[in-house]
Amino acid sequence: MLEALRLDGRVAVVTGASRGLGRAMALALAESGADVALASRSKPDLEETAHQVERLGRRAVVIPTDVRVFAEMETLVGQTRQLLGRLDILVSSSGVAQVAPLAEMRPEEWLRILDTNLTGVFNGCRAVARHFLAARSGKVVNIASVLGAVGLPGYAAYAASKGGVIAFTKALAVEWARYNVQVNAIAPGWFVTDMNAEAFADEKIRERLLRDVPLRRTGRVEEIGPLVVYLASPASDFMTGQTIFLDGGHSAA
Ligand SMILES: NC(=O)c1ccc[n+]([C@@H]2O[C@H](COP(=O)([O-])OP(=O)(O)OC[C@H]3O[C@@H](n4cnc5c(N)ncnc54)[C@H](OP(=O)(O)O)[C@@H]3O)[C@@H](O)[C@H]2O)c1
Repeated sequence: MLEALRLDGRVAVVTGASRGLGRAMALALAESGADVALASRSKPDLEETAHQVERLGRRAVVIPTDVRVFAEMETLVGQTRQLLGRLDILVSSSGVAQVAPLAEMRPEEWLRILDTNLTGVFNGCRAVARHFLAARSGKVVNIASVLGAVGLPGYAAYAASKGGVIAFTKALAVEWARYNVQVNAIAPGWFVTDMNAEAFADEKIRERLLRDVPLRRTGRVEEIGPLVVYLASPASDFMTGQTIFLDGGHSAA
């Protein structure tokens, strides 16, 4: 049964692989046997992830990419296929958050969040489309958020982008089912990463945020690994269009 979770011989692109959840997912995929193309804007941080992948015995290539720019995503996909020989899995983890009351949010901020979190996911799927559909196989894992399903003051733009990812994932799954391409999403709850470390360092804010989480703790980044491996592997071939909430029960409360 565990054989179905192996990714030997597969190649994955992971965006947002320079740190946080993206790096953790790149390492989990490598541990399961995949070679990985690592993308985000920061080359030195991607190189650190690449070293860690190589220590696991897998190949890694570093391809600095801004997910907001479709041409860069096309280059990422093309170079991955050229350098690693194929492409089977796309994990879109690049994302940004900006906490601000909507009444004070600048329209440019709204656009930056939507561009990165939602258009970035579109750009990734659009860039792999031709290859996955022709191959009649492929796995897409989009990273949404629990805040795409439940409200929190200050997060309206972020929530809109992540709710968009959940809806996009469903619609694309139905569209690509006939090509045997599975499209799913992971909606993380709170994991302490660079995105929110400052907030979690403040005891009052930490307590307020964890009040929404039945398990009363944040996730550990390595806890996302088994789920992304499952969604990237043949073990999940009958699952598509789903958003799995990895959130300590936040969305259930
Ligand atoms: N941490 C949480 O509690 C939490 C909860 C729910 C959902 N999420 C989601 O999980 C994903 C990963 O977040 P994280 O917690 O790992 O945050 P993080 O540590 O801040 O990582 C964000 C990643 O996105 C990349 N990125 C940002 N803008 C980009 C752009 N324009 N082009 C390419 N890459 C870009 C960053 O790399 P560069 O700066 O090098 O470009 C970095 O690798 C995000 O989609 C986030 O919304 C996180």
